[in-house]
Amino acid sequence: MLEKLVKTISPYHRCVVLTGAGISAESGVPTFRGKEGLWGKFKPEELATMSAFMANPEVVWEWYNWRRELMENVEPNPGHWAISEMEKWFDEFTLITQNVDGLHRLARTRHIIELHGNIYRNKCADCNQSFEIKDDIDPNNIPRCDKCEGKIRPDVVWFGEMLDSRIIDEAFYQSEHADVFFSVGTSAVVHPAASLPLVAKNHGAVVVEVNIEETPITYLADFHIPSKSGEFLPELIKELKKIDSEG
Ligand code: APR
Repeated sequence: MLEKLVKTISPYHRCVVLTGAGISAESGVPTFRGKEGLWGKFKPEELATMSAFMANPEVVWEWYNWRRELMENVEPNPGHWAISEMEKWFDEFTLITQNVDGLHRLARTRHIIELHGNIYRNKCADCNQSFEIKDDIDPNNIPRCDKCEGKIRPDVVWFGEMLDSRIIDEAFYQSEHADVFFSVGTSAVVHPAASLPLVAKNHGAVVVEVNIEETPITYLADFHIPSKSGEFLPELIKELKKIDSEG
């Protein structure tokens, strides 16, 4: 499978990679869905929505403080680093991530589209002004915006919220123009991210899914690799580099 995949994708120039929580699982960051998923203990509608924040800002901040603490000692894993190597290997490369953990940045990938924001950024819930707040937010004393007095919230996209249209347009543009599109570690159930593999496929890309389980886009993938991303992607980049050395 690896040999056939390398033979198929090596002549191409434009690569797009879409990642989800699965790419960070081997760094110790729990995924949302699946057996060990975060949602097992929590319900999204109780935590990751604007109405939850307006009703219970303390509970929402407790959850985000817990997630930030969880990520304090978390490092990129070989899957993140392999994606940075892929960026160097292909002439044109875009990473589209649904993750808010910042691990792709730490692994020095450069062209990143963060679809769902970044857990280390905060913003005003009313006027959207962004805030860099270094220390943890005290859930019982949530800071206010110095411009409009609105409550400060995490700068991540919550269920039911619109994504920044410029970010979405860029993600669709790159997917439409990809020669090779990787879907890595995502359950492909949350839109609009989940429609990107189909968009790429419909525009003629070779679609490669790397996921330990099947998903709703497995049927359209040219290759489904049922492996952990942190194990498979380093093998892939090793084979691609061999082609370079063989000239
Ligand atoms: N390697 C590859 N795939 C993995 C690994 C691994 N080591 N571990 C888990 N997976 C797969 C699971 O099989 C699952 O399909 O990663 C996927 C993780 O799916 P989710 O937990 O649903 O995460 P994601 O797809 O990123 O969720 C999308 O939903 O809750 C919202 O905003 C949140 O960005 C998130 C969005």
